[in-house]
Amino acid sequence: MSSPRVVDTNIDHMVRIAILQIVSLGTKHGIFSLLAKEPTLQELLDRVGLPNRALLVKFVSTLQDLRIVEVRAGRLHLNGFSYTLEIPPDKYDLLLPDWVSIHEEIYRMVDYAFITPTHPHILMDFDKDADFWDMRMSTSFARAYREVMADVADLGPGSAVLDIGCGSVSPEFFGRIVGYDGLYLGLDYSPALLEIARSRAEEKNLPVSLKELDARLIRPVNEYDAVLMSFVLEYIPDRAKVLKNAFETLKSGGKLVIVEPFRDAFENVSALEFFEALNRDFTGFPTVREVTRALEKMGFDFKTERPGRSILVVEKV
Ligand SMILES: C[S@@+](CC[C@H](N)C(=O)[O-])C[C@H]1O[C@@H](n2cnc3c(N)ncnc32)[C@H](O)[C@@H]1O
Repeated sequence: MSSPRVVDTNIDHMVRIAILQIVSLGTKHGIFSLLAKEPTLQELLDRVGLPNRALLVKFVSTLQDLRIVEVRAGRLHLNGFSYTLEIPPDKYDLLLPDWVSIHEEIYRMVDYAFITPTHPHILMDFDKDADFWDMRMSTSFARAYREVMADVADLGPGSAVLDIGCGSVSPEFFGRIVGYDGLYLGLDYSPALLEIARSRAEEKNLPVSLKELDARLIRPVNEYDAVLMSFVLEYIPDRAKVLKNAFETLKSGGKLVIVEPFRDAFENVSALEFFEALNRDFTGFPTVREVTRALEKMGFDFKTERPGRSILVVEKV
């Protein structure tokens, strides 16, 4: 059984490697040598010569977020950035291996994205690139956070679970846990990912229900012991509405479990966001504060728990 420390430690390491990849991209595309001349943003865009200017603007704003670049009097300045990659010895045994090659694939996609945002080598669309996402969701990292979710939500045989943005792998995992006495409903807006999930569930004769639905259109009908949202809020622009519907579907004492690299819990997470934004629906990682504030504003009665920095549990009181 994985612990929240495993999930947090691997997210920390994803961020560290993403920072190195950002530095590598800046060097590879000649962006740093142009920045050394302290250009305006417009001058930089004109001189770099990469066709996808919108991505270059996003790259520069990521450099600013990471404090590698500063804007002074309308000019971009490199600020003598130095970065030490540290892995504390007590974390060595928590690092999981198989997300690394997936992230390497994503870093490579940026070179193509600098040519055009619709380049065929960009494999981040949930439908067109369902197989890539299926691989990504099949890593031991994904298994680790699912184990943590099942644990913090007290899931077991007979539990009723709603999984918003379930993807292709979670239905099998949670379907096995709740069993035939329980209820698992997975919602997702990607027909291709649902198709993979459905064929697995049928093949293994698992008791899961799957429905194609945009999370923004959920109507609270049933009552669940747990509502799960892992790595999904980051694709949802109008989060408050989805959170409201998610919370309202909970039984009293039920738990909403959210897993995300929360912006207010992980430093430098904008390095990861730069890469995740190759999926055009990506809207940025949420903050814990925005989630709890949205629920407070709606007048809900709840308690929160933080088993880890990447995990927020909201219990309906
Ligand atoms: C990164 S995957 C995570 C999947 C799953 N929760 C897991 O942890 O394995 C994000 C999932 O959210 C789904 N998704 C994104 N935005 C959505 C929306 N507005 N409505 C429904 N599903 C959405 C995608 O299709 C995809 O399956």
